[in-house]
Amino acid sequence: MSNNREQWSSKASFILAAAGSAVGLGNIWKFPYIAGENGGAAFLFIYLICIILVGLPILNIEILLGRATQKNPVGAFKTLTDKPFWKYVGALGVFASFTILSFYSIVGGWSVAYTLEALKGTFSSFGTPQIAADFFNLKNSNPMWVIGYHTAFFLLIVGIILSGVRQGLEKASKFLMPLLFGILMILVVQGLMLPGADRGISFLFNPDWSKINPQTFLLALGHAFFTLSLGMGAMMTYGSYLSEKDDVVNASYMVAFLDTVIAILAGVAIFTVVFSSGYDPTAGPGLVFHVLPPLLAQLSGGYIFALLFFLLLTIAAVTSAISILEVSVAYLVDELNYSRKKATLTMGILVYCAAIPCALSFNVWSDVTLLGTGLTFFDMADFLASNVLLPLGGFFLAIFAGYVWGIDEVVRNLLIGDSGSVYFGNSILRKSLSFKSIFGFLIRYLSPILIFLVFLYQFGWI
Ligand code: PFF
Repeated sequence: MSNNREQWSSKASFILAAAGSAVGLGNIWKFPYIAGENGGAAFLFIYLICIILVGLPILNIEILLGRATQKNPVGAFKTLTDKPFWKYVGALGVFASFTILSFYSIVGGWSVAYTLEALKGTFSSFGTPQIAADFFNLKNSNPMWVIGYHTAFFLLIVGIILSGVRQGLEKASKFLMPLLFGILMILVVQGLMLPGADRGISFLFNPDWSKINPQTFLLALGHAFFTLSLGMGAMMTYGSYLSEKDDVVNASYMVAFLDTVIAILAGVAIFTVVFSSGYDPTAGPGLVFHVLPPLLAQLSGGYIFALLFFLLLTIAAVTSAISILEVSVAYLVDELNYSRKKATLTMGILVYCAAIPCALSFNVWSDVTLLGTGLTFFDMADFLASNVLLPLGGFFLAIFAGYVWGIDEVVRNLLIGDSGSVYFGNSILRKSLSFKSIFGFLIRYLSPILIFLVFLYQFGWI
C-alpha cells in the first residue's frame, strides 16, 4: 500500500506546502489581534521564545515521524510501537482535525464572503468600524449566509484534496503561496507609506513589559502550536509524503522562519493602517472583519487594498485548511484502505456537518453555551483546539520522541537526508554532540515541562 503512496516532487514543494499549512488564519487573523490585546512587542518576544524552544523541536519531530513511517498519525505510532496507548494519541490528532476545521472553515467562509463584498465595493460605504461591525453581525444573524459561505469554502478545499498530493496539495501551494507573499508585500509597503505608520511599527516592536504575565505565556505557547500546525499530525501527514533523502531539519527551519516572518509582516500591514487611522489595536477577533474593512476602504486606492487583503486571508485559510482535512483523509486511506476519493468525500461530509453548530453559534444557537463555560460551539472549538488538543498532542509527541522512540533514534533519523546545508540546520552543527544534547534537553525536559505547567495554570491548579 505504501508503495503507491504519493510523494512531493521535491523538498521545495514540501516546504511550500508545509509553509502553506503553517501560514493561515493564525498569522493574519489571530496573531495581530492576540498581539494587539497583549502588549504588542512584549507578546511577540515571548512568542518567539516559544517558537524557538518548543515549536521548532516539535516541528522536527512531527515531520520526522511522518518521513520515517510514511504514515498518517495513527499508522505512524502503530509502526513504531506496539503499545496501544500511542494509537489513541494518533487518533486524538484525527479528532483535533475535526475540531479545528469546524471553526476554521467558518472563518474561511467569512474570508470568501468578504472577498466578494470587497469586489462589490461594499466597504466604501462604511464610515466607521461600528458600521462595519453592525454589517458583520447582521450578516451573521442569518444562518444561511454563514452556512452558505462555509459550504463554498469547503467545496474549495475538498476539490483540492480530491486531486491528490501532487496535483492537488502541491499545485495549490505552488500557485497560492507566492501569490500570498506578493499580496502581503504590497500591503506592507502601502501600510508603511501611511502617515503615522511609525506608531504601528513601534507598537509591534517596542515592548511594554508590564503586559507580561503567566497568561501571556499560555497564549504564546498555544499560539506557537497553532501557527506551526503542530500537535495534531498535519505536519506528520505532510512529512509522510517526503522521501528518505529529504532534509527534515533544514525544512523545519524554513517553515518556522517563513511562518514567523509572515505573521510579523501581517502585523505590520495591519497595525500601520489601524494606528494611522487612530484606532484601537485591542479590538480582538473583530479586528480583521470590523476594524479593517472601513479603514482600508478609506485609503486612496482603498478598493484594491481591501480586495487584496481579503484575498490574502482566503488564500491563507485555504492552504491551511487542506492540511487539516488531509490528516483525516490520510488516516482512512492508510488504515482502512479507502480510495482517496472515498476518503475525501467521507471525511469532507463528516467535518462539514461537524461545523454546522459553529455556524449556528452566531445566530440561532448564540445563547447555547457548553458545560457551564459560557462558550458557544464556535468559541469552544477554538479554545479546545488551541489550548487543549494541540498542546496535549505536542506534549505526547515530545514524550514519545524523548522516551519511547528515544533521542538516539531521533538524531540518527534526523541525520538521514542531511543536505549538507551550511545555512539553516548546518550539518556540522547537527553532527556535533552538543546538537544531540541540546535537542535531547528540549524534547525530553523543556517542552513537556513547559506544556505541563501551562496546563496546570490553565485549569487553575497553580
Ligand atoms: N497553522 C494554521 C494557522 O496558523 O492558521 C492553523 C492550523 C493548520 C493548525 C493545521 C493546525 C493544523 F494542523
